[in-house]
Amino acid sequence: MIMDVAANEIQAIRLAAQALERGEVIAIPTETVYGLAADATNERAVVRIFEVKRRPSFNPLICHCSDLDMVSEYAILDPVSLRLAKAFWPGPMTLVLKSNPEHRLPSRTTAGLETVAIRIPAGFSNELIRSFGRPLAAPSANISGKVSATAAAHVRDDFGDEVPLILDGGPTEIGVESTILMVKDGGVELLRPGGLPIETLQPVANVPISARTFEGRLLAPGMLKSHYAPRATVRLEATEVRRGEALIKFGSDTVPGEADCPHVFNLSPRGDLAEVAAALYAALKLADEVGVSEIAIVPIPISGLGLAINDRLSRAAAPRGLSPDEAVLGRL
Ligand code: TXA
Ligand code: MG
Repeated sequence: MIMDVAANEIQAIRLAAQALERGEVIAIPTETVYGLAADATNERAVVRIFEVKRRPSFNPLICHCSDLDMVSEYAILDPVSLRLAKAFWPGPMTLVLKSNPEHRLPSRTTAGLETVAIRIPAGFSNELIRSFGRPLAAPSANISGKVSATAAAHVRDDFGDEVPLILDGGPTEIGVESTILMVKDGGVELLRPGGLPIETLQPVANVPISARTFEGRLLAPGMLKSHYAPRATVRLEATEVRRGEALIKFGSDTVPGEADCPHVFNLSPRGDLAEVAAALYAALKLADEVGVSEIAIVPIPISGLGLAINDRLSRAAAPRGLSPDEAVLGRL
């Protein structure tokens, strides 16, 4: 069932909390993308997330909390993480923190790691967690490896009745997943660029921010090569559109070949990267629906949200069908 949150938020929270209490997996809107949520403290419910999403069990989940008190129950906040938390939560930032040894989440939630990824989301999901009283484990609400859901209909398209309750909060505001950070050795490591740009983080972190160092270990599956992928193949940095391709562009410039292209998606006619991020996944899914086999995408600047957009697009364009082990960056 898809339930419109705006129509009756109190009823939506009540129904959702009851389902979570029963150990069910439900879909919830967050400000980044839709999440496939269950009670993070209920091992069986968490196992069900992995089954429904067809996600490998070695890949840990983000735990969504309503406030810093809830975070402190499960994790230890070092001073830099606390500064970031106070500045950017609720919001599109996930911190990988040391687990609180006195109050550990089930090892299925954290994939047995000593750390836990935590985020305080904004909006409806925050209200739901507050009312439920326990953290929600929630990966993005898409089948593993596919493009994340930014609308309730995307969740239904991927999962049908396997997810009995989908809370519809409309299209998500940010449209790309959260920025994942880990404080380490006096600096901040960027594990996944996302909805909170580095340029915004830097002055608050006030320590060096480095892109993830690959230590021969899987830190985030963002490191898998093919990910966030539509069915069609993706051609990046396109300076023209070829016969049979769909075109994803932004801004007001005309792309050579555009006049003959029946499927042009202009994600932001005024060239605003926030609008591009918000519309990107829906456009990739729409391009699949119209049945093209290749999508041409114009170059996108690397600054601000452009870093996250380029990260997702390069994974969408990556070679398909590699096993996770073969596909880990650095071994290719
Ligand atoms: O915006 C988001 O972050 C969305 C919404 C629903 O909150 N969630 C999301 O979850 O994107 P997911 O599961 O698709 O991505 C979570 C990422 C994975 O790459 C996972 O490997 C990484 O977080 N992760 C989780 N726990 C970790 C840990 N302890 N250390 C390092 N990476 C971790
Ligand atoms: Mg995901």
